[in-house]
Amino acid sequence: MATTPPFDIVFFGGTGDLALRKLIPSLYQAHKAGALNQDGRIFALGRKAIGLEGYMELLEQRVKPRLGLDYDEASWASFRDRLRFHTLDAGRAADYAGLADTLGITPERVTVCYLATAPHLFITICQNLAKAGLNHSNVRVVLEKPLGHDLESSNAINAAVGRNFAENQIYRIDHYLGKESVQNLMAIRFGNMLFEPLWRREWIDNIQITIAEELGVEERGEFYDRTGALRDMLQSHLLQLLCIVAMEPPASLSEDAVRDEKLKVLKALKPFSNEDVLTKTVRGQYRSGAINGMPVAGYREEHKVDPDSNTETFVALQAEVANWRWAGVPFFLRTGKRMQERVAEIVINFRKVPHAVFPMPIGLHSANRLVIRLQPKESVRLYFMAKEPGDAMNLQSTYLNLDFHTMFKARWADAYERLLLDVIRGRLALFMRRDEQAQAWSWVEPILECWSRHSIAPKTYTAGSWGPAASSGLLSRAGVVWQEET
Ligand code: BG6
Repeated sequence: MATTPPFDIVFFGGTGDLALRKLIPSLYQAHKAGALNQDGRIFALGRKAIGLEGYMELLEQRVKPRLGLDYDEASWASFRDRLRFHTLDAGRAADYAGLADTLGITPERVTVCYLATAPHLFITICQNLAKAGLNHSNVRVVLEKPLGHDLESSNAINAAVGRNFAENQIYRIDHYLGKESVQNLMAIRFGNMLFEPLWRREWIDNIQITIAEELGVEERGEFYDRTGALRDMLQSHLLQLLCIVAMEPPASLSEDAVRDEKLKVLKALKPFSNEDVLTKTVRGQYRSGAINGMPVAGYREEHKVDPDSNTETFVALQAEVANWRWAGVPFFLRTGKRMQERVAEIVINFRKVPHAVFPMPIGLHSANRLVIRLQPKESVRLYFMAKEPGDAMNLQSTYLNLDFHTMFKARWADAYERLLLDVIRGRLALFMRRDEQAQAWSWVEPILECWSRHSIAPKTYTAGSWGPAASSGLLSRAGVVWQEET
């Protein structure tokens, strides 16, 4: 694997959950795989003066156990040599001069400032970095999602960050874009001739995109209660997946070629009227139930969640991409916490055959279906009808299965690992451009407004189920069912 250029990476929120769960482990994996330049330093920032020793203790407790079989004594020891801890209060401008001194301002050196903090700190951090001279053209800032709370706050952050950094220095992260299986979605669509002629309204009946989680809100009750599933998952991950499914073939994989096509899809999304919000969206919230046979608490009993909370932990909606390729094809998007199974999947339901040649009634024919499983157990299944052995002409739905883990034995890098390497290498294609993000917020805004104006309370669902009954009702009104109900 080619190594990165020399770099410094600075984690704001270096002792936080994201850094310990994802960022540090991903850099360790990249280090172990030999992908990081020898001359690469990692600075964790935190408010408490715990020093490198204190930080290493934290990593021993929180990161090492996560690495499981990937932990390797020698790699861990050499990885440690890259680490530094620097005490800084992100809100105190005076602290940044010390950071600049520690880093040493060398304009030719790639310096990545990863803002793994609450979004309300983004503006202050970027202003302070600039004041300390840490915004030269080789400085890149990575902004974690959610970027703001709505269109207005996201615009305010983008405008303020944009005053100190050029757009090509800003990496807005959506970790779904770094997943191997999401990359594969591009390969399936644009590396094969087979599907392209069929990839349109004439042959496709409906499309379903699901990201279901078994996890609840864990330690993030406070954040989640302010956020909800629409902002946390749908506005970002689900819309990005929809873009990749629905976009026109880009002319190349260059950053703007892909992002231009995604933007066109977002612009083509039919805006929701009030009536649409009331009939084509479903809000849900989990009550207590069981996950894999273990009892779990309801959302309102979760740590740091308001016991009267009306925040949604589930959302399903019917969208339409109003253009020549997709007009009239329903796109059903759904996401939820504490669902029956952890699964992220895209289902392309093709139309049924037009005429019954076989003795069985046409209603019993299953239509062709392409099921792209993004996680876990990444696979692609193509369902089609085949004859059962025997005298009678009996057809049955069967499938061709491509299991990626059986097919490819190589190591699968975590999404964050790929994205961190991309930032260090200066590749922007897998990051959201400002206009894309603004467009995504504009589209979800009427939904948020209508829910709040009409005080639409979420419908409860039992933890460990597939969401509220209304979610199935949404599809049945369109004459279809969710994938797991087929
Ligand atoms: C994050 C959300 O962006 O994605 C979390 O904030 C969610 O709420 C997570 O749990 C899901 O990511 P993954 O990769 O585990 O599917």
